[in-house]
Amino acid sequence: MRQKRTWRQRRRLSDPIEEHAAFNDTESKFAIAGHPLHAMLITYPVALAFLTFGADAMFWWTGDEFWPRAAVWTAGIGFIMGVVAGISGTVELLIVPGIRIRAPSWTHFILACTLLSVLGVNWGYRLPDPQEAVLPVGILISALGLLMTTITGWHGGKLVFDYQIGTQRDHGT
Ligand code: HEM
Repeated sequence: MRQKRTWRQRRRLSDPIEEHAAFNDTESKFAIAGHPLHAMLITYPVALAFLTFGADAMFWWTGDEFWPRAAVWTAGIGFIMGVVAGISGTVELLIVPGIRIRAPSWTHFILACTLLSVLGVNWGYRLPDPQEAVLPVGILISALGLLMTTITGWHGGKLVFDYQIGTQRDHGT
């Protein structure tokens, strides 16, 4: 006897993105031997955002003027490398149709642009007088940069591990 089909089965819900073969290709193209450049480059802004906050905290704790000088360098290089990492991510976003069509990629782009703005402000604010800038505004911007780095980095991981963005779908088995 034929089974009665449910309303959901009759309506056949489908994902319009999955139906287009070109959009199933989410593999990283901006890569060296299949290793995405973006994943390599983001390590710099992530590490340097943590170091900037650490240097500010050390200055608050010890009062040693070495730390504001260190922080102006970590903030500056962190911002520049963040922009470089952002460019690599943007190239990926624009050249891979399966990445470009998916909304989470754009959420990540917005989070990253917010982060890069915070990193840029953190550097620019310190340039005129690195020592004077730290307490309280500099360290607060560093804390915000740290928070945004954590959120953006977590979301980047979500793109890769939850949505398989940047990965090869057919593992050649
Ligand atoms: C400004 C524009 C940015 C765009 C358009 C972008 C785009 C992407 C894309 C498409 C991926 C998927 C993997 C790949 O294809 O490489 C990704 C992964 C990732 N992104 Fe971004 N990104 C940007 C900036 C950043 C920044 C500034 C950070 C720093 C926190 C970041 C952190 C990550 C992380 C941690 C991953 C996961 C890497 C992995 O586990 O392989 N992204 N991003």
